Amino acid sequence: MSTPTQQKALFLQTKHGEFTVATRPVPKPGPGELLVKNEATGLNPVDWKIQAFGLFIEKYPAILGMDAAGVVEAVGDGVTRFKAGDQVIYEGVPTEDNDHATFQQYSLVSADLAAKLPDALTFEQGATIPLGLTTAVVGLYSQNGGPMLTPPWAEGGKGQYSDTPIVVIGGASAVGAFTIQFAKLSGFSPIIATASLKNAALLKGFGATHVLDRNLPAASLREEIVKIAGGPVATVYDAISLPETQNPAFDLLAPGGKLLTVLPPAVEEDKAKDAQGRTIVHVHGPIQLPQNVEFGKLLFKKLTGLLETGDIKPLRLEVIPGGLEAIATGLEKIKNGQVSGTKLVVRPHENA
Ligand SMILES: NC(=O)c1ccc[n+]([C@@H]2O[C@H](COP(=O)([O-])OP(=O)(O)OC[C@H]3O[C@@H](n4cnc5c(N)ncnc54)[C@H](OP(=O)(O)O)[C@@H]3O)[C@@H](O)[C@H]2O)c1
Repeated sequence: MSTPTQQKALFLQTKHGEFTVATRPVPKPGPGELLVKNEATGLNPVDWKIQAFGLFIEKYPAILGMDAAGVVEAVGDGVTRFKAGDQVIYEGVPTEDNDHATFQQYSLVSADLAAKLPDALTFEQGATIPLGLTTAVVGLYSQNGGPMLTPPWAEGGKGQYSDTPIVVIGGASAVGAFTIQFAKLSGFSPIIATASLKNAALLKGFGATHVLDRNLPAASLREEIVKIAGGPVATVYDAISLPETQNPAFDLLAPGGKLLTVLPPAVEEDKAKDAQGRTIVHVHGPIQLPQNVEFGKLLFKKLTGLLETGDIKPLRLEVIPGGLEAIATGLEKIKNGQVSGTKLVVRPHENA
């Protein structure tokens, strides 16, 4: 079948405005790019935050969406790693031309930042992976100021950090779940995560050795973690990063330790005063950020292998019926904290 010239896309009409589905042209891939027919797209907290807080985007109407899996429809000049018909996953990015975000039926992506989707995974599973995974790995392995650990795909990287404890605050979040999985591949032990206890088995399946109730008072949390880890720890990844998680998370650090956060630092000033080398590092996970692209190219070359071996697993997911029209309802659920340990996914061609 030939590529259609028009497609359905979900537009955020204005800053703080409404989401509506409308028609727009299917873009053409430039040199080095893929045109992907998006079979599944995942929802992220950033999507509702852009709408609610007016973040990041100045040009409207805008198309959002960062997680997708689909089929390569066409390739631009110079692309050799992919051909039409390949099944891929990739991370989208809202851009002024609206061609590179994923809440639409067809998007463009640089071939260097896409990975083949293993046959054993569905498109929906593929769409649970990109942003959560890249934010986890950028934080652990490449964020400026972060621990800059050796990635598990580099020589000697797998298992390198054996007998080293790590704490993941919010292990049931997408970022947290991938942080646990990569911590396991890197050899960390124990891997201590916080979550609602109903998600304990899920997190242990990803590699957590201990799951602590996210509602424990700060002092009890610290006491438990010190007991399990044998003392304060050098690396804490706070995948939630609200003030109520960052402050207790900072208190878990050993001198010289690093607290990785996914939101701007919010640790009280008096704690930071006598920090003894403890630092807070704000992770910027999107792989299309200029500082992440070179690392991203390596990662996306290795990603298919990591998924094929099962070393890295997709997230638990729920498909919301209704296609692009259903995204606004899904984002509302995420905003209201009604989604637990699960990635919401829609199929952009449904109801088309
Ligand atoms: N800086 C970046 O580049 C970047 C990139 C991606 C995401 N983010 C941000 O990172 C955060 C996480 O994103 P995500 O997509 O991973 O989130 P998500 O998957 O939507 O996270 C949902 C989970 O968060 C957990 N949670 C909420 N409050 C918690 C708390 N106080 N303690 C422990 N767990 C808690 C819940 O766990 P339970 O169900 O177990 O209670 C829930 O399952 C968001 O704020 C997002 O905007 C930043």
